Amino acid sequence: MRKVQAMIPKTKGRVAWESPANIALVKYWGKQPVQIPMNPSLSFVLKKSVVEINMDYVIDPDNDFKIKKFTLNGKSSEPFSEKTEQYLVRLNNFFPFLKHTQLVIDSRSTFPHSAGIASSAAAFSALALCICTIDARINEKKGDGDEFMKKASHMARLGSGSACRSLYEGMVLWGETPLVSRSSGDHAIRLSDDLVNNAFMRLNDAILITDSSTKRVSSTHGHALMDHHPYREQRKIQSGINLEKMLAALAEGDFTAFGEVVESEALGLHGLMMLSTPPYLLMHPNTIRILEKVRMFREETAIPAYATLDAGPNIHLIYPETVKSNVLPFIEQELTPYCEGKRWIDDRMGDGPNRL
Ligand code: DP6
Repeated sequence: MRKVQAMIPKTKGRVAWESPANIALVKYWGKQPVQIPMNPSLSFVLKKSVVEINMDYVIDPDNDFKIKKFTLNGKSSEPFSEKTEQYLVRLNNFFPFLKHTQLVIDSRSTFPHSAGIASSAAAFSALALCICTIDARINEKKGDGDEFMKKASHMARLGSGSACRSLYEGMVLWGETPLVSRSSGDHAIRLSDDLVNNAFMRLNDAILITDSSTKRVSSTHGHALMDHHPYREQRKIQSGINLEKMLAALAEGDFTAFGEVVESEALGLHGLMMLSTPPYLLMHPNTIRILEKVRMFREETAIPAYATLDAGPNIHLIYPETVKSNVLPFIEQELTPYCEGKRWIDDRMGDGPNRL
């Protein structure tokens, strides 16, 4: 105990990071302890859907600080505080200074909480980056570079699995697979440029909000239902096949093959939910109307626009920048009537987190 305390300096300061949400093309669904995914997943980060965390810290090795203060968009928020508190307790094992640190954390998100879009990946990746930055500062280590990001990705994973994929730009893989060297279940990696055709470097994501109410079944609970799922083993095989097809499509610049995997993964994810015990359904009637509209639009125009869903009713319409002028009127005229209050977010692939 004495030894650890001697290594912890008496200091204070402030760190701030902005980190994005990400959208999975091959889905993470099911896990084993601790937050190791049942299958590898692949995603890209968004540009506009971000969370900003400002963290003030006072470190005093002679004091144990149990009280941390949290605010969400400037106001205190019970669920945010509880989850963050539990997360920081988990991180105590990795960062001995945390027990002796008074923290004031303010979190702001650009996407409204009520939009029904998961902000946890953005929030936990920003939190992990802030804690890793303090750690780097007090240990006089580099607060950037590959090793730093790898550690931040690992720490983000412990808050929310998908958060570990928010650390990198481009196509990001999490989970061990023989198909990609350096892949790991501990942290995510960015697919190197030679594995991704330029056609996929400027993707758009139109987030179509069909229902902004809080989800009936959380993702965390949904993952747990995979433990005894009748299709658990089949899902491992199918996600592996889909990942292989996706990697080939990305390398070859094949948008049709890309889209087939994207839609198969989205519908497959919801199929797994419907076959869970107990079964549940998170799609809204308008989710299905939009899925149908997107399929018809593609058949009529041959424009590559594909829909995906997370564990919720909102649709992410993924399409390349080159067809934006065709897709925007389609969204405005044919899809927004099925969105709650005609709401949608015109988002796109982003560049990863930013230190503020
Ligand atoms: C359907 O990362 O939110 O969005 O690890 O329990 O926090 P926890 O779950 P979470 O699950 C995300 C599930 C998904 C698919 C994906 O993003 O890959």
